[in-house]
Amino acid sequence: MWATPLTRLLNIRYPIIQGGLAYLARAELAAAVTNAGGLGQITATTLDGPDALKAEIARFRELSDGPFSVNCAIGHRPIEDLLDLAAAEGVPVVSLTGGNPAPYVEQVKRGGAKLMVLVAGVRAAQKAQSLGADVLIAVGQEGGGHIGKDDLGTFVLTPRVVDSVNIPVVASGGIADGRGLLAALALGASGIEMGTRFVATVESPAHQDYKAALVKAREQDTKIIERSLGRPGRVLPSPYVEQLLKDEENSIDAASLMQRVRGQVNRDAALDGNLDHGFVWAGQAVGLIDDIPSVAELIARMVKEAEEGCYRVSQGLAD
Ligand SMILES: Cc1cc2nc3c(=O)[nH]c(=O)nc-3n(C[C@H](O)[C@H](O)[C@H](O)COP(=O)(O)O)c2cc1C
Repeated sequence: MWATPLTRLLNIRYPIIQGGLAYLARAELAAAVTNAGGLGQITATTLDGPDALKAEIARFRELSDGPFSVNCAIGHRPIEDLLDLAAAEGVPVVSLTGGNPAPYVEQVKRGGAKLMVLVAGVRAAQKAQSLGADVLIAVGQEGGGHIGKDDLGTFVLTPRVVDSVNIPVVASGGIADGRGLLAALALGASGIEMGTRFVATVESPAHQDYKAALVKAREQDTKIIERSLGRPGRVLPSPYVEQLLKDEENSIDAASLMQRVRGQVNRDAALDGNLDHGFVWAGQAVGLIDDIPSVAELIARMVKEAEEGCYRVSQGLAD
């Protein structure tokens, strides 16, 4: 049941991708995901440039000989140097997120990597396919981090994108267990991507307070910041976030808002645990997170849950 167009294309055992995670998607986490049968990703754009990415790739290769992806979020810094480095290192997969991939497609393809593009709507999906993407990751508004502007949920977005293109589609946003994995496959996706769930694992470098907050939070707790800046993103609540939202409502000028949502504030909260004085990304899937397992335990559990769920549905025993 686990062979899909995605697993064949990426040469992985299970159709499970670890999402790009600012400051957190480092070699240890990525290698744990790949070694457990999924596809790990290293987020390049929050590292200190190409040399740091090179070191991160070397570290990954010490820990795993499986495939992995380098994730570049568009719009935070120039990414050409990171893509050049990825090509020179023979990175097998690259993902582009958060902006128009057009200027970078040729560079990725020249480097020989498979290209995954994150989309939040049908038009962007068709555009990315026409540009040459190999995989589309469709992210619903339940997700952690930056989401689409149209507030489309994963359950509608996934089959809409699947029906609109002819390349493998990965469902993302709100998935944290084997039921979500099975549902995504039932919606026509060839796999899933998870962000929030992987933050709350042993191998994630997130601060313990961040992981504990993910376990404690309920599905209705997350907030959306940066809507007034045209790039909504889902976070855990905090006093810092409350003030930010008030100021967004009161149309505080964009330059001052940009300053307060800069990466460093997120970094200090996520890695040093300054949760009250900053913001950390998290999706509605927090409601489904009750523990901090190792990545291997998590993936094995999800596979088992999905297999059991599949059997139950096929026997007509679902209640
Ligand atoms: C802590 C965190 C950081 C994220 N950082 C990035 C990032 O740097 N680049 C990116 O492409 N996506 C980023 N995302 C989005 C994820 O890759 C993924 O699309 C999203 O988490 C899926 O929804 P889920 O959280 O419900 O699993 C981030 C998500 C979270 C939770």
